Amino acid sequence: MAEFTFFGHSTVQFRTDTGKVVLIDPWVMQNPSCPDEIRRNLQSVDAMLITHAHNDHIGDAVELARRYEPSIVVANFETCQWLARKGVKNTSPMNIGGSQDVLGLRVTMTRADHSCGITDGDEILYGGAAGGYTVQMPGGFTFYHAGDTGLFSDMKLLAELYQPQLVFLPIGGLYTMDPHQAARACGFLQAKQIIPIHWGTFPSLTGKPIQLETELSKLGITTEMIAMEPGETYRR
Ligand code: NI
Ligand code: MN
Repeated sequence: MAEFTFFGHSTVQFRTDTGKVVLIDPWVMQNPSCPDEIRRNLQSVDAMLITHAHNDHIGDAVELARRYEPSIVVANFETCQWLARKGVKNTSPMNIGGSQDVLGLRVTMTRADHSCGITDGDEILYGGAAGGYTVQMPGGFTFYHAGDTGLFSDMKLLAELYQPQLVFLPIGGLYTMDPHQAARACGFLQAKQIIPIHWGTFPSLTGKPIQLETELSKLGITTEMIAMEPGETYRR
């Protein structure tokens, strides 16, 4: 069984069937969408997957790594170097196209059309390229967390290569895809289910799940939308 808890924005906690906790885009304490109860109840973090170094994704990575000492912290090469300089142990760098084993899961870093500067004090440092992840469980179930990205038609290749059944796609617009584009992405990915992310956190992110639903039906795409409120858990 796989268990996904939406912490709000792009932060997703994935619990493996062996009870290990994988935190994708660790923005928790400073995440305005994350319910207090979720912060208080966070017992362990065994792995972190970081899509890119923007603050609304990596913002609490250093502090969470200090508190929970995850056995593996995955990000691109440049971002891992920066995390290591900030005292994060067990970084395991990779880059787009690469795969590695994370707590028995097969993790592949995928393309994202986005930027990845690291805000460090009043400087913006080069953070490598933004990415996303496909995560394949031993039983074959695969999900895809796109990180922040615009729409790109090579998402068709991800469908061909990894057949993700469940996809986490940004829909807020402005910095990422909006619902109109995310619906098209669902078609490219041939996903069974989508959990929309990166919406509602700030007034500038105007895309809403209800709009995605409308766009999906306009295109005749059968991907089922699972709209989660922060703090909710989805089990499959
Ligand atoms: Ni971003
Ligand atoms: Mn973002």
